[in-house]
Amino acid sequence: MKLKPLLASLCISVPLMMTSMSTVAVEKITLKLAHNLDQEHVVHKALDQMAKEIQEESGGNIRIRIYPNGQMGGPRETIEMMQNGALDMTKGSASEMEPFASAFSVFSLPYLFKDDAHFKRVLYGPIGQDLMKQTDSKGFVAIAAYVAGTRSFYAKKPINSPADMKGMKIRVVSTPTTNKIIELLGASPAPIPFGEVYTALQQGVIDGAENNEPSYFQTRHVEVAKFYTEDQHTSVPDYLVIASKVWNGMSDEQRAIITKAARNSEVYQQKLWDKEVTNSRKKAQEMGATFITVDKTPFREALKPLYDDFRKDASVAEWMTKIEGEANK
Ligand code: GCU
Repeated sequence: MKLKPLLASLCISVPLMMTSMSTVAVEKITLKLAHNLDQEHVVHKALDQMAKEIQEESGGNIRIRIYPNGQMGGPRETIEMMQNGALDMTKGSASEMEPFASAFSVFSLPYLFKDDAHFKRVLYGPIGQDLMKQTDSKGFVAIAAYVAGTRSFYAKKPINSPADMKGMKIRVVSTPTTNKIIELLGASPAPIPFGEVYTALQQGVIDGAENNEPSYFQTRHVEVAKFYTEDQHTSVPDYLVIASKVWNGMSDEQRAIITKAARNSEVYQQKLWDKEVTNSRKKAQEMGATFITVDKTPFREALKPLYDDFRKDASVAEWMTKIEGEANK
């Protein structure tokens, strides 16, 4: 945790006469938060609003400095930095959390959610709350969850069915589950960091990738992979995580301020998301993208063996059963 002595910040921004007050000062904290998304991304906007609320509600005593756009590296690096005490907070998608707690792999299970309402019931209900604590023994905990729509394949050539994917190289956020998805569809998975996908597509190192519409458009992948197939295989949320050491070292009051602002940021982000999807689709089309409507049945069928794999592993099978139980509430 970066504890900023009051005197240090006063030296920059407060008239001299006030420096004598520093002896009665409350501890000031500046938390560093790094993520790999664009500043136009709704998750960044939600984090930005959260930071403002926290600063205001704490009377300026808690500040959050955000480093967007992968400037501190991708989630693998930023989570590691957080574990080593070099960073206080970061954002990781459920796939990026999977190496730290296998429970998060459930989000990579294709077509697990019946619809958006089912997904949100899980994410923001008791199951989601339980999931958010799963990484505590790894040195960090999740304090907010953000929706991220559905992930679909996009490529340099149209994909109308799994048969078209044969032999293709597809970038994934590499986990055992995502790799298997690609293999079951007859393609090969490529574990390329988010920030390097554009160049990999441009240079033909890969033939395609998979993501939601805002990331497809904001990363400009649309320029080098014009065909977006709406197979919507997974719904993988993003998580805001904080180092356990930092979190546990805070006062109850500080934690309450952050928790409330984090909740509000979830609500704000959900409000922005659907509009952002519509906007990204429109902008991508203006840049020459073709959105392909496909029959999801052959994708669903090809990916069924993953369900058998999950059922064999007792710990993830339990999460899966709980999630399936929320489908018809
Ligand atoms: C989405 C998601 C990110 C993730 C990225 C990726 O954009 O919001 O958290 O890092 O996909 O595919 O790497």
